[in-house]
Amino acid sequence: MLLQLILLLNYCGLYVFAESEPLQFGLGDHIDWGVKDKRDKVKEMMYFAWKGYAQHAWGFNELRSDLGVPNNNSVFGNNHIGLTIIDSLDTLYIMGMREEFLKGKTWVSDHYDLAQNDAFFPAYELGTRIAGGFLSMYALTGEDFFRTKAELAVQSLLPIFQPSDIPLDRVNPKQRIGASGSPLSDLKDLYIGPLQLELSYASEITEKLDFRPIEGPGNEYLFKFNLKAWLRSNKTNENARKMYVKSVDKMRKVMLGLSFGGLTYLGRVSNKRLQRRMMHSYCNAGGLLALGSVSHGNENHLVARDLQLGKDLAKTCRKRYQRTWYGIGPESFQFDSTPTEDAKARTGDSTAYRLRPEVVETYFYLWRLTKDQKYRDWGWRVVQSLNEKCRIKYGFSGLENVYEPDNNKDGQQGSHFLSETLKYLYLLFSNDTLLPLDKWVFNEAGHPFPVMKKAPWRHDHFST
Ligand SMILES: *[C@@H]1O[C@H](CO)[C@@H](O)[C@H](O)[C@H]1NC(C)=O
Ligand SMILES: *[C@@H]1O[C@H](CO)[C@@H](O)[C@H](O)[C@H]1NC(C)=O
Ligand SMILES: *[C@@H]1O[C@H](CO)[C@@H](O)[C@H](O)[C@H]1NC(C)=O
Repeated sequence: MLLQLILLLNYCGLYVFAESEPLQFGLGDHIDWGVKDKRDKVKEMMYFAWKGYAQHAWGFNELRSDLGVPNNNSVFGNNHIGLTIIDSLDTLYIMGMREEFLKGKTWVSDHYDLAQNDAFFPAYELGTRIAGGFLSMYALTGEDFFRTKAELAVQSLLPIFQPSDIPLDRVNPKQRIGASGSPLSDLKDLYIGPLQLELSYASEITEKLDFRPIEGPGNEYLFKFNLKAWLRSNKTNENARKMYVKSVDKMRKVMLGLSFGGLTYLGRVSNKRLQRRMMHSYCNAGGLLALGSVSHGNENHLVARDLQLGKDLAKTCRKRYQRTWYGIGPESFQFDSTPTEDAKARTGDSTAYRLRPEVVETYFYLWRLTKDQKYRDWGWRVVQSLNEKCRIKYGFSGLENVYEPDNNKDGQQGSHFLSETLKYLYLLFSNDTLLPLDKWVFNEAGHPFPVMKKAPWRHDHFST
């Protein structure tokens, strides 16, 4: 197995528990006046997306923005988990949408009860979105209410570690059993990588759980999780840093391609061969590689190398958005047909756009790290395209075909649009003092976790 976790219950003593310092509601001091109108536009989009959900799918997981009814095909089906509410709370809080935030919190208080659900849910989504959402709310507010919710959500994940320490990928909160075999089970090896951030922060704040991640291998797909583990340790967990550097090396060796037209891409590896196809979901690698470039310390040529690679990947993903004419890129896209066709969806690709965040996530990180105006310009173009092509009657909608967006709405407003896409866009047009990157680490569902106050890492606890 690739990554292990030691799990001990009722363990105390090793960690220096972080105290949460509540952030001011709405964080009003962080307005960057030069782009206030753009920031306000993103807030207005959040308001519109939330309103549609609140009026037509309240308490359900996600909205069918075309029909104005709940969408029962989301990852949590038609169970009343309120995924969009939980996923959105921190975004509402950060944007200062008090009334909406309080309505959401009241629903959680009165109606949310995960343990009532007799169904198998993907552990990854439960960990990053539900537990991750509550953990982040605790970090932002310091309220015990959210800590308790987070703790319960993390507890409900525990069955995935039984009977062996190879985690299962699905869990039933009511029956308290795990299972494997979701459509994502081919990613099983990677499963626990994404959850180590949630589990370690939960351990830090609850004093009842103790999850200590053991370093994973330098696996290319784990690079972002190794990076975030290192960053959250305030850059003191040397093992996580080494694993990150190793995973980036591996990624560069096996996944990196350069098209004839000069575009750098991260290809999919299939049967040990590199395909000339990049997924939308890899597009956040640009920002994360730039963010991780400091892992090379004073080896300046390596720092510069990774920063450049991050910028090159951002440029590639941006090209892909440009080449649709409408400014929204497809789920997957290919290289090397002809230079002018580079970075377009072709045979075998998905031409859809599911309101995904990864491209604007990369713009956000690169803006923070380089202050190059073009990243804000590129992000603003996305805002315009979203409003032109994805905004429909009851909310925002994904597209089945980005090359013909007018008649191809999928009618789905995934909760990730509110928790990630709109949050990163808002941060792109905010002052750097709003969730500064040396104090906060965003999980894979866009929820910010605080950097550990005093890193508890002790190397003897990491031996396998
Ligand atoms: C960012 O916020 C800080 C502190 O509130 C302030 O001093 C600074 O002028 C702000 N910068 C911009 C660009 O608004
Ligand atoms: C989802 O389920 C709810 C309640 O069961 C129903 O009102 C709604 O129409 C369903 N949505 C779709 C798209 O069928
Ligand atoms: C992280 O470490 C730096 C010194 O390297 C320190 O100044 C900073 O306060 C630490 N951050 C936290 C949250 O403890």
